[in-house]
Amino acid sequence: MKTLSHLFKKNTEWAEEIEKEHPGFFTQLVKQQNPEYLWIGCADSRVPANEIVGLMPGELFVHRNVANLVNHTDLNLLSVLQYAVDVLHVKHVMVVGHYGCGGVRAAMEDKPLGLIDNWLRQVRELYLRNRTEVDGLPTMHERVNRLCELNVQRQVMNVVHTTVVQEAWRRGQPLSVHGWVYALGDGLLRDMKLTVSSTQELEVMEKDFYL
Ligand code: CO
Repeated sequence: MKTLSHLFKKNTEWAEEIEKEHPGFFTQLVKQQNPEYLWIGCADSRVPANEIVGLMPGELFVHRNVANLVNHTDLNLLSVLQYAVDVLHVKHVMVVGHYGCGGVRAAMEDKPLGLIDNWLRQVRELYLRNRTEVDGLPTMHERVNRLCELNVQRQVMNVVHTTVVQEAWRRGQPLSVHGWVYALGDGLLRDMKLTVSSTQELEVMEKDFYL
């Protein structure tokens, strides 16, 4: 069996490169992590969290799953969020969707894919609720991309309604939740202007739209 030695070679080169540029980098990092940000993004291999925002190891706490979903029953996501907010005291949580998301596209189509259909159920429901707007767009490409944006909005709302975020705001901890979309085609992030930093801001935002 092959041992993927090329990946170990790349890893050695990567570690040497960082150590050359920042002597003592890894020994410092062993002592503690102090990230200011939690990234909740899609598992898609084309959306590498750290690289996109140019952050080093130790600077970004990351949770990724198919279609960047925030489910209130997902213990994995909730544990990451709780640790990031309560222990690491991150100041920002960003939900990062991406255009052309295969998970979002799958949720719009009628063909069964198996287990993943259960995971994508909430995106499917979001699509059905917004079908008039989404299906009104001329191409499938545009429909998928619009649903990617709506999905980010929805997931931002899901984050801010978690007990973790609600409790943090209640005790006055500074914490902002952001909604971004990444474009595979140009490597750039779009801010969806959905930032919420308090219960008051959330109330104002919820008056504008309820998804
Ligand atoms: Co995706």
